[in-house]
Amino acid sequence: MSGVTEPRKWNVLLTGGAGYVGSALVPKLLGAGHGVTVLDLYLYGEDVLAPVAGHPRLTEIKGDLRDPETVARALTGCDAVIHLACISNDPSFELDPELGKSINFDAFRPLVRAARDAGAKRFIYASSSSVYGLKDEPDITEDMALKPLTDYSKYKAMCEEVLEEERAPGFVTLTLRPATVCGYAPRQRLDVIVNILTNHAVNNGRIKVFGGEQLRPNIHIDDMTDLYVECLETADETIDGKIYNAGYENRSVMDIARSVRGVVGDGVALDVEPTDDNRSYHISSDKIRRELGFTPKRTVEDAVKGLVDAFRTGRLPDPMNGVRYYNIRTMQACDLS
Ligand SMILES: NC(=O)c1ccc[n+]([C@@H]2O[C@H](COP(=O)([O-])OP(=O)(O)OC[C@H]3O[C@@H](n4cnc5c(N)ncnc54)[C@H](O)[C@@H]3O)[C@@H](O)[C@H]2O)c1
Repeated sequence: MSGVTEPRKWNVLLTGGAGYVGSALVPKLLGAGHGVTVLDLYLYGEDVLAPVAGHPRLTEIKGDLRDPETVARALTGCDAVIHLACISNDPSFELDPELGKSINFDAFRPLVRAARDAGAKRFIYASSSSVYGLKDEPDITEDMALKPLTDYSKYKAMCEEVLEEERAPGFVTLTLRPATVCGYAPRQRLDVIVNILTNHAVNNGRIKVFGGEQLRPNIHIDDMTDLYVECLETADETIDGKIYNAGYENRSVMDIARSVRGVVGDGVALDVEPTDDNRSYHISSDKIRRELGFTPKRTVEDAVKGLVDAFRTGRLPDPMNGVRYYNIRTMQACDLS
């Protein structure tokens, strides 16, 4: 990436480090020489970080980011924050909107302030490309008005504003708006588009597509996690106060389904059903390429191949029924309040 400075070693507080993205990011941060403190409720399993547990530069704190004392403890010795923790899709947010708001929005400003007051120099926030809502323009760029369609997306957008309000000299803030992430990670999500289709192709032998012309923006989990690491290495002045879309391929659902079938095998049946829901989402990731030199390297097909390998080697047991692969099922099963 451009604007990359002399590699600096950070002590990073990673909220949500035991989630889908976090479970792939923690080993990369450690591998890059950073210290990592994970603050997470471990809703998706206590063993998610088992491969790196006990690493001398890793601290794991099981706790709630809504609790100020826990946050203060987690921030001790940290000089950067990457904030991933949240109720991270529409259905699990809708399940208990008050709970969702308390985690995704109400706790956000206190977390940012606590980080700044504790001396953190950098705060990287995982927003979402869903903040744009539906748009007809061919290129959805960062300067366009946000018209979030759901509460999950609305609060994602509102946190961006809070972060800008709390930005201060010496406290560098950066917002990323990721596309939908795909591919294998130690804590697997099977409720996001590429992963859903791959699961059904491998384990059911058929994929069902509703409509199919709708566009979806995608980014491979290894590109997404590379980006977080690279953002730590980028100069303050390059990223301070910035907002970037982060996606690779905008592809139609049908196109993704065909790619999945292409990787899994022609024996996979592809059923197409009509739908009234023709919502299309797509983003432009030109700005992040232009300004940070970030170009994703992995395709949707790469993500599918990684998942197929994980299924076939038994790393994702009970993929249809396992509660932890599905955020909504986990939230239904846990009694978080
Ligand atoms: N996965 C995607 O496709 C995608 C796309 C765009 C944006 N994002 C954003 O990236 C971030 C990470 O997404 P993900 O897919 O890894 O989500 P995830 O649901 O897998 O992980 C979220 C983690 O946050 C933890 N958590 C929830 N509430 C908490 C609380 N109160 N205190 C402490 N920990 C708590 C959970 O235990 C979980 O481990 C989220 O902010 C999400 O909105 C994800």
